[in-house]
Amino acid sequence: MSDAGAPAVQTGRSPNQALALDRLVRTVGALRPPGIGVSVFAVEDTTAQVTWDGLAAGPVRVAAGDAEVVIDHGGGPGAVVLSGLPPDTALEAVVEAEGAPAQQLSLRTLAPPPGPELFRLATVNDIHLGDPHFGHLPTVAHPRHARHSPPRRCLEAAVSEAAAWGAQLLVAKGDITDHGSADEWALGAEVLANPGIPVEAIPGNHDVGREAVDGRATLAAAGIELRAGRPSARDLPGVRLVTVDTTVPRRNPGTIAASTAEAARLVAEAGGPVLVAMHHHLQRHRLMTHPPRGIPGAEAIPFLDAVAGANPATLVVTGHSHRHRSYRWGPITVAEVGSPQDYPGTWAGYVVHEGGIRQVVRRVAEPDAIAWTESTKRCFLGLWGRWSPGSLEQRCFSLRWPGR
Ligand SMILES: [Fe+2]
Ligand SMILES: [Fe+2]
Repeated sequence: MSDAGAPAVQTGRSPNQALALDRLVRTVGALRPPGIGVSVFAVEDTTAQVTWDGLAAGPVRVAAGDAEVVIDHGGGPGAVVLSGLPPDTALEAVVEAEGAPAQQLSLRTLAPPPGPELFRLATVNDIHLGDPHFGHLPTVAHPRHARHSPPRRCLEAAVSEAAAWGAQLLVAKGDITDHGSADEWALGAEVLANPGIPVEAIPGNHDVGREAVDGRATLAAAGIELRAGRPSARDLPGVRLVTVDTTVPRRNPGTIAASTAEAARLVAEAGGPVLVAMHHHLQRHRLMTHPPRGIPGAEAIPFLDAVAGANPATLVVTGHSHRHRSYRWGPITVAEVGSPQDYPGTWAGYVVHEGGIRQVVRRVAEPDAIAWTESTKRCFLGLWGRWSPGSLEQRCFSLRWPGR
């Protein structure tokens, strides 16, 4: 971290407690396998993002096929994107860095969905602007003397990198703020609007918490509509975007029962493919299988059935769980995407084609931002680094709309 030094472990405990906690974290850390090191984090039809959790300062060369990138790396974690790769092709990538043996990585680029590309949009969620730390065991506190807090820095980098990728619309799908304070809303409006591309927002539970104020006017002044209340639809080239507010004021779990009929109607009436975006993840089992609580299965399952019945050409995307997963529900696909500000620190891109859609999830690559997100990998006794990322196939996929 160039302006702040290493993130500090926040204790708030007695010296003995802190020592015991530190021993526990180190013991568990020593037991678990090594981190992901150098890996392929994201693939598209013609690009691949290669990331690493710690390389020495100096030149880093990454090459695959005819593509090559050489950067002057400042040391620590980092990322590069290889472009111009052949679609639907197995490739061998090589990573060369100072003081480390050359690393070979296998990757396969995606096949693009059928038909021409029509539109690109990007999403961010679970930014938690105003949050002073992340996680437990250990809690990672923000660096002292930081010019900007990590959530702000990570969001700035995410929206900038999504815009450079070609996003024509940005969807902020909840937990934009940590407490919904006026200052946090103002910061969210400023950072989200900064790249100059249209922005839509959906509230998350943290945006409607006990101390939250209504952020709609603040966002509207920056040209951002907060789509709170009833489900709404916006027709984009090649896809209808349906947004669903799943929040319950002053409560963390979500709800969707009262919105299901209207959302299903908007999905059915699209006359074509649909992307449904919401904050809370849908618990697809009757019993909760992992924290945090999302939308309970008793509500989520009827919603998924209704959407799948209304329009099989649908992709549902959510947040709140701060992790990356995707699964099929009958003919439709559902994807959870994590946060820009905690490991692995991501944003998602959606490329709409005439005959399908593909999702790419990239790590936020700006050096200070990736240094921060890498530091949160050790939270929850080191399990966070293994729980949140999901698999490459769950993060990056290409869908063909049914019947096309
Ligand atoms: Fe969140
Ligand atoms: Fe949330």
